[in-house]
Amino acid sequence: MSYKTLLLTLILATGTLWAQEQKPAPSPNATPTAATVVPHPAEISAEDKARKNPVPFNEVYVARGKKIYATQCAFCHGERGDGKGEVAYDMKLSLPNFTKPQLLDKRTDGELFTIIGNGADPMPPQTGRLTDAQRWNLVNYLRALSGKVPDKATGKEPEENILEIQK
Ligand code: HEC
Repeated sequence: MSYKTLLLTLILATGTLWAQEQKPAPSPNATPTAATVVPHPAEISAEDKARKNPVPFNEVYVARGKKIYATQCAFCHGERGDGKGEVAYDMKLSLPNFTKPQLLDKRTDGELFTIIGNGADPMPPQTGRLTDAQRWNLVNYLRALSGKVPDKATGKEPEENILEIQK
């Protein structure tokens, strides 16, 4: 790419960013129009479906999952998991509502772990970005979003990667 082309590209990109910033904030009640939604399309193997969640479903791990969710997932799936994140709005995605218990009840923990790992365009794959422990924490947080109440903390939860400790 020549210097001039590069400069032009940069100017155009900056212009696009600026234009995006000028957009009004989405109304919280707005419904995205286009139906880009599909049920998660990837084939999930029986082995992945049957994988057991090694991380206890308790308040400590749910809170850790919540933190990751806030930075990695909420911009699409919405802060409360209702599918109304800003990016979902901008991309006209209409996303599953995790707060409806029927939705995630159909998925095993192993399935959710696999979906989070593989992603599905435009959802980014997390394998290699997040540790297994972080992905299980997310699975637990999704369960909490869909209305399940986590157990009380034991006070003995390790700070470090729980999966390393369990080995
Ligand atoms: C760029 C937007 C985007 C981001 C970021 C994103 N997702 Fe998704 N996600 C989607 C879309 C679109 C779907 C629905 C289509 C599909 O299932 O393939 C989806 C589907 C899912 C499903 C499947 C629900 C079901 O039962 O079919 C789960 C679980 C999920 N996402 C969890 C997460 C988690 C956890 C994160 C953060 C680590 C995340 N997603 C980040 C866009 C996103």
